[in-house]
Amino acid sequence: MAKFLVQKSEPLYGEVHISGAKNSVLPLMAAAILPGEPCTIRDVPKLLDVTVMEDILKSLGGTVKLQDDGTLDIDMSAMNSAEVGWELASKMRASFIVMGPLLAKKGKVKVYMPGGCTIGERPVDLHLKGFEALGAEVIVKENCVEATAGPDGLIGASIYLDFPSVGATENIMMAAVLADGVTYIENAAEEPEIVDLANFLNKMGASIKGAGTDTIKIEGVNKLKGTAHTVIPDRIETGTYMLAAAITRGELMIKNIVPDHVRSIAAKLRECGVVVELTDEGLYVNGGMNPLTATDIKTLPYPGFPTDIQSPFMAFLTTVDGSSTVIETVFENRFMHVAELNRMGANIRTKGNRAMIQGGKELEGARVAATDLRAGAAMVLAGLVAKGTTEISSIYHVERGYEDFVEKFRALGANILRIEE
Ligand code: UD1
Repeated sequence: MAKFLVQKSEPLYGEVHISGAKNSVLPLMAAAILPGEPCTIRDVPKLLDVTVMEDILKSLGGTVKLQDDGTLDIDMSAMNSAEVGWELASKMRASFIVMGPLLAKKGKVKVYMPGGCTIGERPVDLHLKGFEALGAEVIVKENCVEATAGPDGLIGASIYLDFPSVGATENIMMAAVLADGVTYIENAAEEPEIVDLANFLNKMGASIKGAGTDTIKIEGVNKLKGTAHTVIPDRIETGTYMLAAAITRGELMIKNIVPDHVRSIAAKLRECGVVVELTDEGLYVNGGMNPLTATDIKTLPYPGFPTDIQSPFMAFLTTVDGSSTVIETVFENRFMHVAELNRMGANIRTKGNRAMIQGGKELEGARVAATDLRAGAAMVLAGLVAKGTTEISSIYHVERGYEDFVEKFRALGANILRIEE
């Protein structure tokens, strides 16, 4: 199994180029199912999750080719299946995102799920409620979900989401673009990835208005055409490098960013005394200019503070004098990294969805696990400032979501190695 070995490093310094957004490219790839004509997606990051989505599209009968420059050509015109098998579906929760486009295109879809436990912890009820509102019959079996459109296909409807789920908003939007009539998604997710998907679909000829607000209006069209689109930069990767500058008290120029997408992260870092400035070149972040102070964060749907940056921010807070509170409101149980940080000498207590951090004590290298994708990044950040060596296992999580992770960090002066054992 591969591991990261991280040693205490000098403050990170230099320029880093942000890749295309993982959370955008996966739904964009799924959307390429819809037109029945070739599509091109540019700035596609080379990630394990992208490979899994490529394999899913191929398993449906599509042709997929990723070039070295990140240009991805997808041709689903010969698609001959609307079923995602167990082996592929179980590799990535985001595989569920093909359900909406398959239902719209084929009228019938079957997707296996990674198991009852995962459904329980991260349910898909809002996705399914949306498909049902569009007139589909949905049958949930022990380890798969089947949906079938009515005899006249999907019919536009008004759908209110109990929670602004990103995946449900994307899935319903993709199901509704070819439906008969108008669909409204209310209390929709407002994340930039939703806007990116709507832009891609509109280029195909869809009629979507209001993406990026809490009400999205989709007027169904009969046909979509192939198109080309460039993925937005990854705001979570951007946030991770902002935190890398902060925790190491380093100085980074982060290039290929959309400043609006990281506004909440920038605001919280500035509150702590980190310099975050937008320049012509990119986002300049300097953690070594001012004495740093603690702050509190609360994760929320966009434009609130992103849950995906909660663990890297917590790693940073352990290094700042004073006490702070982190409240997680998007995912229950997203505190698995707390035990790992405490193993490194951090002083964090949790109660329900609240973590109390007493910061300022020097961390010590330890054997820890990347308990999820972003927690893995948090452990690397902690390792960069911890005394000695930090050995991080289960790093496949990190490789699922960060392009050239080790190379980019090493180029900034991080002492990190990937080893195979
Ligand atoms: C996406 C992102 C993930 C990010 C998350 C929240 C992708 C591939 N992943 O995940 O990185 O952390 O948004 O910003 O884009 N929920 C339900 N029922 C549903 C769907 C969701 O109760 O049908 C709940 C979830 O359990 C969770 C919350 O809603 O508590 C948010 O989930 P959601 O926004 O759907 O996240 P994902 O789309 O899975």
